[in-house]
Amino acid sequence: MDQPNTAQATGADRTSAERDQEVAVHRELEDYYRAGKPPWDTGVTPPELVALVEGHDAPPPGRALELGCGTGTNAIYLARQGWEVVAVDLIDRAIGQAREKADAAGAAVRLLHGDATRLDDLDAPGPYDLFFDLSCYCGIPPHRRDAYAAGLTRRAAPGARLLMFGYGPEAFDDPISGVTADELRARFTGWELVDTTPGTNPVPTFWFTLRRTAGEA
Ligand SMILES: C[S@@+](CC[C@H](N)C(=O)[O-])C[C@H]1O[C@@H](n2cnc3c(N)ncnc32)[C@H](O)[C@@H]1O
Repeated sequence: MDQPNTAQATGADRTSAERDQEVAVHRELEDYYRAGKPPWDTGVTPPELVALVEGHDAPPPGRALELGCGTGTNAIYLARQGWEVVAVDLIDRAIGQAREKADAAGAAVRLLHGDATRLDDLDAPGPYDLFFDLSCYCGIPPHRRDAYAAGLTRRAAPGARLLMFGYGPEAFDDPISGVTADELRARFTGWELVDTTPGTNPVPTFWFTLRRTAGEA
């Protein structure tokens, strides 16, 4: 009987391992929302986002896309600041809660249940002036991160900003989670990492600001 060659076997193993990672992450996130209020759901908009949106050199309100919006606290904040907001989360229960919160607040936010690494499957063509990611990207399995970056790049208006909060790899006890400045520089081609500010958490965290550089693919 023919034996699969090593390269084929390795490729197949990697693909099924990658699929398993996505399923495991999805299940873990669902469990958090099913169990009640997840630990990250503080209901407080971080000062770093407030500074960007209301600070002395704040851009005029435009279109914003939030990746991994959870129950919508920051999407609602952006809408109240005059932004036209689309917000995406992988977990339908989170989006359901976000819709209830947005309705109660009278905030016009378009909330989409879907995958931030598969934006082409969603009705979110952009272009967007601002992307916001509070601790979503750092939990995405590595094999989906190029697709995340490509999806944002295709939807970025010239000069668009991405404000991202992420945990460093040291904050996790698994080998796939976490984000570094070097990774973002390498993965986000056509963007400049303009600022990296450490967070105040007891474990390594960072606020990254990237800017789409005009005219590059
Ligand atoms: C740590 S939570 C933060 C939630 C929200 N940003 C907040 O601060 O309350 C990460 C969120 O990203 C979502 N998420 C993870 N992977 C995602 C993906 N591939 N696409 C969309 N959302 C994702 C999770 O469901 C979760 O709501």
